[in-house]
Amino acid sequence: MASCDFFPDAGGIRPYRYRDGVLHLLDQRLLPTEEVWLEYRDCQGVAEAIRTMVVRGAPAIGIAAAFGAWFAARDIQAENFDGFWREFEQACATLAATRPTAVNLCWALERMKSLVRANALQPTVNLKIALEYEALAIAEEDLRINRALGRHGEPLLADGARILTHCNAGALATGGYGTALGVIRAAVSAGKQISVYADETRPWLQGARLTAWELQRDGIPVTLICDNMAGWLMAKGEIDGVIVGADRIAANGDTANKIGTYSVAVLAKEHGIPFYVAAPISTIDLTLADGSLIPIEERGEREVTHSGERRLAPEGVAVRNPAFDVTPARLISAIITEHGLARGDYRTRLAELVAKGR
Ligand code: MRU
Repeated sequence: MASCDFFPDAGGIRPYRYRDGVLHLLDQRLLPTEEVWLEYRDCQGVAEAIRTMVVRGAPAIGIAAAFGAWFAARDIQAENFDGFWREFEQACATLAATRPTAVNLCWALERMKSLVRANALQPTVNLKIALEYEALAIAEEDLRINRALGRHGEPLLADGARILTHCNAGALATGGYGTALGVIRAAVSAGKQISVYADETRPWLQGARLTAWELQRDGIPVTLICDNMAGWLMAKGEIDGVIVGADRIAANGDTANKIGTYSVAVLAKEHGIPFYVAAPISTIDLTLADGSLIPIEERGEREVTHSGERRLAPEGVAVRNPAFDVTPARLISAIITEHGLARGDYRTRLAELVAKGR
């Protein structure tokens, strides 16, 4: 069994560590006031961690799911392939059902399943070893991908730019470094003065709790605003660009991301401000022709009616809580991936970029 500290030389913030067969997740529900690491050793535990958002952000949940699949494999007793496969597929289905919108979850599980299918003639003990290394590879690659994505995206940000971001598409949401925040980090590393406006991102407050925390830690100037303040700041000329992450990008470039992203994109269009999406190729879902086909997670009403333990809304009020929305491709100035930019004819360019990644 591999025994390693996760990304020992990567530096920076990471949402997890892996050591001696145990996955440690930084409990993102408690940030920024408490830094608590929870330990996971089985598939059910990891599924629960994803569902309850101990770990969140599209690439990070893909990585966690890969470890969940490896834990499931480790616990399977069956020694013949058919028995192993039946239980393994069932465990992957349990993991895949935890959060429906971020396609990276299914992408990572599909990669784990492909490995098993491709090695069907191997003894199960070998499959288990290979699955552990595959989970580690998925995690390590994500960090490299984010750095490449940062290199492609940073030329889009001018020295002195004031950039708005929504939700958290940073180190905490990925294998480290981040997608949208990775582009910002790359621009800062290139010597540019970049300052960030972080939307608080109701109802879960990923912007207030996570983006503000990780940018502060890195010494990148960050100003927190409520979601309903972005339009006014744009109107006053205080925002030069918007950059967000993505949970799933359809073949035509329509992009699902945290609820509120669509409103920001509409505002950016109105004010002539560029609106960029930064995401790895694993977030592109060419099987969906457009964004209307992306499944949108609806979460519990308590996230809307309460702040922590405190009720904010009257008992019995009707509540909607869609966790994501879809920004139409026509509102997106460019999609930044690890293999380069897509803009204009998204359908052709995204297909080319995905092909490059194969
Ligand atoms: O509900 P969450 O916190 O998992 O939503 C996260 C987002 O919407 C992120 O912007 C997206 O996953 C990209 S993370 C690099």
